Amino acid sequence: MEVFKTIFLLYFLILEKVIPQTCPSSSTTSYGSPLIHDDHTATVGSNGPVVLEDTEFLDEMSHFDRERIPPRVVHAKGFGASGYFEVTNDITKYSAAKVFSQIGKKTPIAVRLSSTLSDQGIADTIRDVRGFSVKFYTEDGIWDLVGNDFPVFFIRDPRLFPHVIHALKRHPTTNLFNATTRWDFYTLRPETAHIVMWLYSDMGTPYSMRHINGYGVNTFKLVNKSGQHVYCKFHLYSRQGIKNYSGKEAAAIQASDLDIYQRDMFNNIAKGNYPSWTMHIQVMTQNQADTSTFNIFDDTKVWPEDQYPLIEVGRLTLTKNPINYFEEVEQIAFCPTRMVPGIRPSVDRMLHGRLYSYTDTQLYRLGANYMQLPINRPCNVQNYQRDGKMTFYSQGGAVNYHPNSFGGPNASHWAQSLSSPYFTSGVVGVYDNGDEDNFSQATYFYKHRLDDAGRNNFIENVFDELRNAERFIQKKAIKMFKKIDESLAQNLATKLNSAK
Ligand code: HEM
Ligand SMILES: *[C@@H]1O[C@H](CO)[C@@H](O)[C@H](O)[C@H]1NC(C)=O
Ligand SMILES: *[C@@H]1O[C@H](CO)[C@@H](O)[C@H](O)[C@H]1NC(C)=O
Ligand SMILES: *[C@@H]1O[C@H](CO)[C@@H](O)[C@H](O)[C@H]1NC(C)=O
Ligand SMILES: *[C@@H]1O[C@H](CO)[C@@H](O)[C@H](O)[C@H]1NC(C)=O
Ligand SMILES: *[C@@H]1O[C@H](CO)[C@@H](O)[C@H](O)[C@H]1NC(C)=O
Repeated sequence: MEVFKTIFLLYFLILEKVIPQTCPSSSTTSYGSPLIHDDHTATVGSNGPVVLEDTEFLDEMSHFDRERIPPRVVHAKGFGASGYFEVTNDITKYSAAKVFSQIGKKTPIAVRLSSTLSDQGIADTIRDVRGFSVKFYTEDGIWDLVGNDFPVFFIRDPRLFPHVIHALKRHPTTNLFNATTRWDFYTLRPETAHIVMWLYSDMGTPYSMRHINGYGVNTFKLVNKSGQHVYCKFHLYSRQGIKNYSGKEAAAIQASDLDIYQRDMFNNIAKGNYPSWTMHIQVMTQNQADTSTFNIFDDTKVWPEDQYPLIEVGRLTLTKNPINYFEEVEQIAFCPTRMVPGIRPSVDRMLHGRLYSYTDTQLYRLGANYMQLPINRPCNVQNYQRDGKMTFYSQGGAVNYHPNSFGGPNASHWAQSLSSPYFTSGVVGVYDNGDEDNFSQATYFYKHRLDDAGRNNFIENVFDELRNAERFIQKKAIKMFKKIDESLAQNLATKLNSAK
């Protein structure tokens, strides 16, 4: 992060006063004036009331009163680290992105690992989807890969995002997590079936965040130097392996350590035991996409690895803990919108929903100029955006309109040649792409990804939550599982019946 510190200091050089200044070495107020006292308020006599003229107290307290910012609306609980990405395989035939340009090339990264549904204070090991976000500080600007630890998502239309989150998070009356609302949503929107298999398997309670994979989930486009594209999925595979707790083990840990994942990551990095992940892509040509038997823009589906083999790209290694959590983790802002030349969005409608939502929430959560925060800043910004709340760099005296005759910056031919224009036509309307196959990949997961112990634990984990749902919801869940696997549904029904 040294690079960012330097950039930050540069701001102060730009703003540097005409006459060089010396500063106090004592503790100071927010306006830099030496403090009279660190620990006591000014009062009338030793037992008297506090006086308003104690401006030191007012200064400190009013800042404290504003310390917290809104938590993320999802993924509120998390922690971060930084490190680097190193290219290990040549994929320049697929993407001209400079971050991939050469084997051995290293790019600084910052990572945030999170829980999706948890509030900030909740135990790390509750059953949840984990977030795996990576910010690449490339020479062509910021690329954010904002992924999860499962390769699929709950829904395939962004309109449903607020709804699925409401159903899965706390109930409006009791403020409790609610099995009825969760399984109500799953059963009414059976496209959730596939991620439900992942979430209620033991992978819903990882052993540590070093032992999870990261998946970009959505479908992207890679564009090569001839301007031609392939579709792509990004995967980060843990080099520590996948390891989980059983539901029971996870519950036991909650009694003794709320923050076991964060502690594990911090301590391992501090000890020099640096965790790492291998980046792979799966690619599909336009021709393969046109003839695919499934919708390649449906994020409830995986691309079978035997048909679309993994292609190694590089390695991510985390080598440094944050020095300041708030600066480097709470204020970091990941957004799938942030792509670099050589990486483009596909027509994946979930991705399009995300392209709007993240920057929108970040403008609210962090304010208009959050991209100027050292942790979010790219290496160079020159454009015609100016001012706004909390500006601390507004590009000095540079010309602020375009076109201009004063040498202001122009768009890049390089970026243009990689912009991958495409033809589209159709009737604008509201379409439910609802006749999709919801279950076959869920069935595959149950039969082939889980072994006997994994299948038993899956049933145990579902039972543990579903037992708390209302009876008519339980019946709907069993009906849904029947479409996934007959024996799964039967075993679950037996358990639920004997629990009544
Ligand atoms: C339409 C679908 C989605 C919408 C509208 C959405 C929206 C959001 C919003 C508003 C945030 C909070 C961002 C912030 O405050 O900085 C967020 C965070 C996050 N989302 Fe999504 N999301 C969607 C789908 C997904 C999917 C499919 C994934 C996985 C690939 C994902 C992974 C994440 C992660 C990892 C974070 C936390 C980022 C961090 O560490 O700060 N989301 N999402
Ligand atoms: C660019 O991508 C297209 C489509 O995958 C491929 O046919 C072509 O060979 C690639 N060009 C280069 C220079 O790698
Ligand atoms: C769960 O949700 C249902 C449906 O809104 C409600 O009737 C029930 O009281 C809720 N229970 C809890 C514990 O939140
Ligand atoms: C798949 O899910 C969609 C969306 O929930 C639904 O409209 C459709 O009927 C389901 N398909 C089947 C075959 O169950
Ligand atoms: C983790 O859980 C998955 C799914 O249940 C299983 O396939 C895998 O073997 C488990 N790994 C460990 C080490 O527990
Ligand atoms: C931007 O484009 C204009 C018009 O083509 C040109 O006059 C100007 O020199 C360009 N600016 C830079 C920095 O290249």
